[in-house]
Amino acid sequence: MLCTFLLYLLCAIVAAENGSQGWLRYAPVSCEKACQDALPSSVVVLNNNETSPVYVAGQELQRGIQRIFNKTLPVNYGDCAASSIIVGTLGDYNCTHNTPEPDEDGFVLNTTGDTVQLLGQNQRGALYAAFEYLSMLAQGNFSRVAYTSNPHAPIRWVNEWDNMDGSIERGYAGPSIFFANGTVAEDLTRARDYARLLASIRINGIIVNNVNANATLLEARNIDGLRRIADVFRPYGVQIGISLNFASPQDFGGLDTFDSLNPSVVSWWENVTNQIYQRVPDLAGYLVKASSEGQPGPLTYNRTLAEGANVFARALQPHDGILMFRAFVYDNNLNESSWTADRANAAVDYFKPLDGEFEENVIVQIKYGPIDFQVREPASPLFANLNRTNVAIELQVTQEYLGQQCHLVYLPPLWKTVLDFDLQVDGKVSPVRDVIPGKTFNRPLGGWTAVVNVGTNTTWLGSHLAMSNLYAYGRLAWDPIVDSEDILQDWIRLTFGSDQHVLDTITEMSMASWPAYENYTGNLGEQTLTDIIYTHYGPNPASQDNNGWGQWTRADRQGIGMDRTVNNGTGYSGQYPAEVAQLYEDIDTTPDDLLLWFHHVNYTYRLHSGKTVIQHFYDAHYDGAETAHSFVDMWESLRDKIDQERYNDVLARLIYQAGHSIVWRDAITNFYHNLSGIPDEMQRVGHHPWRIEAESMTLSGYEPYAVYPFETASNATAIITSSNSTAGMASTTLSIPSGTYNLAINYYDLHGGESLWTVYRNDDQIGQWTGDTKLGHIPSTYLDGHSATRVTFRDIDLRPGDVLWIVGEPDGTEPAPLDYVALLPGGVVD
Ligand code: GCU
Repeated sequence: MLCTFLLYLLCAIVAAENGSQGWLRYAPVSCEKACQDALPSSVVVLNNNETSPVYVAGQELQRGIQRIFNKTLPVNYGDCAASSIIVGTLGDYNCTHNTPEPDEDGFVLNTTGDTVQLLGQNQRGALYAAFEYLSMLAQGNFSRVAYTSNPHAPIRWVNEWDNMDGSIERGYAGPSIFFANGTVAEDLTRARDYARLLASIRINGIIVNNVNANATLLEARNIDGLRRIADVFRPYGVQIGISLNFASPQDFGGLDTFDSLNPSVVSWWENVTNQIYQRVPDLAGYLVKASSEGQPGPLTYNRTLAEGANVFARALQPHDGILMFRAFVYDNNLNESSWTADRANAAVDYFKPLDGEFEENVIVQIKYGPIDFQVREPASPLFANLNRTNVAIELQVTQEYLGQQCHLVYLPPLWKTVLDFDLQVDGKVSPVRDVIPGKTFNRPLGGWTAVVNVGTNTTWLGSHLAMSNLYAYGRLAWDPIVDSEDILQDWIRLTFGSDQHVLDTITEMSMASWPAYENYTGNLGEQTLTDIIYTHYGPNPASQDNNGWGQWTRADRQGIGMDRTVNNGTGYSGQYPAEVAQLYEDIDTTPDDLLLWFHHVNYTYRLHSGKTVIQHFYDAHYDGAETAHSFVDMWESLRDKIDQERYNDVLARLIYQAGHSIVWRDAITNFYHNLSGIPDEMQRVGHHPWRIEAESMTLSGYEPYAVYPFETASNATAIITSSNSTAGMASTTLSIPSGTYNLAINYYDLHGGESLWTVYRNDDQIGQWTGDTKLGHIPSTYLDGHSATRVTFRDIDLRPGDVLWIVGEPDGTEPAPLDYVALLPGGVVD
């Protein structure tokens, strides 16, 4: 028995480090005798129903304290015993407490008396209190506190874009934990673990399927599957909801229409809704993406968006369900030759005239910016334009345009630029964070959603460090005033322990990460500059323009930027309240970081910083890539302080990011250098003294290849093997001073094969690698900015006359592509 127990403990500790427990790993905290004596001696749970969140809270307290302090507390279902932790609802608590009553979902936490009181306004609140107390203990915080904590808003949801076949749109961590082969997965163990993580950050709702919804979710077997998912989430206080396909009455129900005003459509939705509520009586509601990006919607029948939304809302009303209706409606066939056409105008154009026409249980779900989760956007003006309609903000934890979890980007500082932005409605202070809970316009409902897209990867998001974003999302949805760095530090302590150096290092890296990513991707409000047509991952600035998607930069030889002024442009700035409109209308008061969002200027236009636009591009890209490189050294300083599994995984990602930041830097700076013809004052762009181009090496079985887009290859050219089955060789005789170098080799890792490259110095093999990185970002089948990457061999002694040669063995459709070799003296980034 003892043996089994020890084995269990060992397994638990080892397993914890694969990331599956997230921030709930409850690592041991040192607790000497005095501390042990001071720990409560039992847990008193005021509810013995095994599916109640209060019961779960009792289990969680026992498990957490066992793991943190190696002390097993008995769990009783009694009342108010001294020296105990009491968890339950205030309604079930018969003893005295003197803390203010919480709001719905809120809680009281009191450790000052001879009991620890964890008391929720409701069951969910009690569970939140338990997690809060455990979070304190796990961070070694034994302070005596008494306070009431209340949520910022009633809606604190996550969205998962999971498809019925088990794939996840914009998910970078493997297949779905909910669906497989067209139906709900049999094994929902991971779903339960996810529910636990969500409850610990006070998320109370989850939409389990993609906004681009498949109507087959409504099959009887799938509705029963939803019941099973709901049963798993309910004990954690998380209600499930679903995305619906607007055309379901026709595509799935066999009607000859899906017109919202047709009575048979209305009753079809009522029936379906009633059937779902029979299986899931506490369904949170629906999410609908309609008349957007090819999805069906009311506009098909010339009905308004409100008419479409209200059909669902009314069907939900008898069940107290909520309809989240997305504001992401725009024309994706816009004509760029019209100077006044602007996708950013769409949400206000569509929704403002409908203000007041939505049912009371409709919440319009608005992306934080008017385009689409870019690296920087102004706050969506729709937040200022709906004062008789409930709204929620939509954030994105999954890093669709922000490095797809292969780049470290801590997102709260970006989110805060929107949450803290003062819209100055009617000249009064009105930050976005006050609009979303309904405070500014006195609305009854509102709040938060975030697209998360966890997958079956043990790390949930595909990267250990990306989990700080999920943690912070929940914390901000509860209280958006809390400082991003404070939240981050709680997460670090819970995830990696309280060592000061670990804390300082991960804090510094994370806080520098979004500014760095913005620097080496798209600056000055120019969007991410990723490939918007293909994978949304690597650089492709040309893809923004000359198509109907409306993410235009309007870059030409003279200048760049969208003129969104009322005076001379698309009129977008006029969608904000007067003070804000004036701020953005005037180029002199527009902040540099949004300059190109609002104005079209010459590359030589001088910013408030004193730099020209083009020089800012150059400098920012070099700075950003340098910062990304510094993350590797910083992480390596933690080698002995973090378990091997997580240390190695994060290190591999940071090394990759450093290499890809060079790809980004060079692509963007070359692109605008080529377009504008304006040289870099520092003479870095286009000058690469440390590089040997692959195409200039002696080639055998390899041939030059013109890469498209040109800026994603050094000198626009790479080499590929001449055949798909025979190895190629590229060699060069070095004429560099003797010394120790880092040898960086840029190559392309394509989807469709796993080539093998081997690099030699004279007769010695220096290293070998395969093109099989499975980092999780969307792969590419081409040589481009997504597949371009770098491998580095450190501290290689080289002398003039040495022959450096690389053998590339192609595989599948991957022709062992190589771009260049850089011989970098210590400290040089390239
Ligand atoms: C983006 C994203 C799509 C998604 C859409 C949405 O365009 O690339 O995958 O469907 O947003 O939010 O609906």
